[in-house]
Amino acid sequence: MQMKPDKNIQVARTQLELRQCIQAAKTQGRSIGLVPTMGALHEGHLSLVRAAQRECDFVVVTIFVNPTQFAPHEDLDKYPRTFDEDLDALSELAVDLVFAPDQEELYPHGFSTYVLPPAVAAPLEGQYRPEHFRGVATIVLKLFNLIPAGIAFFGQKDYQQCQVICHMVKDFNIPIEIQVCPIVREADGLAMSSRNRYLSPEDRLRALALSKALDAAVAGFRQGIRDCSTISGYMDQILRQAGVTEIEYATVADASTLQPIGCIERRSVALIAARVGTTRLIDNALLVPE
Ligand code: PAF
Repeated sequence: MQMKPDKNIQVARTQLELRQCIQAAKTQGRSIGLVPTMGALHEGHLSLVRAAQRECDFVVVTIFVNPTQFAPHEDLDKYPRTFDEDLDALSELAVDLVFAPDQEELYPHGFSTYVLPPAVAAPLEGQYRPEHFRGVATIVLKLFNLIPAGIAFFGQKDYQQCQVICHMVKDFNIPIEIQVCPIVREADGLAMSSRNRYLSPEDRLRALALSKALDAAVAGFRQGIRDCSTISGYMDQILRQAGVTEIEYATVADASTLQPIGCIERRSVALIAARVGTTRLIDNALLVPE
């Protein structure tokens, strides 16, 4: 286990080091909170850490760019890696432990067991990134097994991911609570994402159309519109007017199953995935009838 002298933070690189730290925390009777990340931390991640610190005595942040959730044509090699800055931010928050294994530690030679993700993984992201949630569910289950936390914290920006994890936890009887924390936005509304740094200044402006489209969906809903094709139409129009034409989906779905719905009668969610320049962005907003 490394105590980074210049950073004042404990970093476990191996499962053995991790186990020793966790054992010590458990012996002291501390409740464990887990914040899984792929690094390139921003305020969204830090809000998860703060939520974990409010509820748990010992907070573990994992930093691992999980290869199995990227398709061969996706941005695994290009994915931002900012480990030093991440440690600075986490040490400023006085996080108890960072687990930052290398690939071999979690996927040693011969690794071949994967989670078949729940049905909620199939629509939306599942249509465009067919293997993605298999990789997410597999790594998250591995982290849950390695870190016996009482609560794990995830961001609502990855709405479908949160549902996949909640369904997996229920279906596999995993003794952990999942807390979904609110989306953190830039002052102008753009949902924070590690991938925002790929946006050119022009694309950064265009990307604002995603949150604007969702604002319009929420406004329409508050005015009493319940027809989903009308709400999707608003979103589509705002995206296209801003020059965001590579829209993968801009739709309304059931908030729990993520199946398409025609009319909002129960808890629902508006979701968008679109390419802005070369960057794929996602965002969402809940639509909850009284
Ligand atoms: O949301 C993420 O950053 C990742 O999908 C996660 C949950 C850390 C799994 O690699």
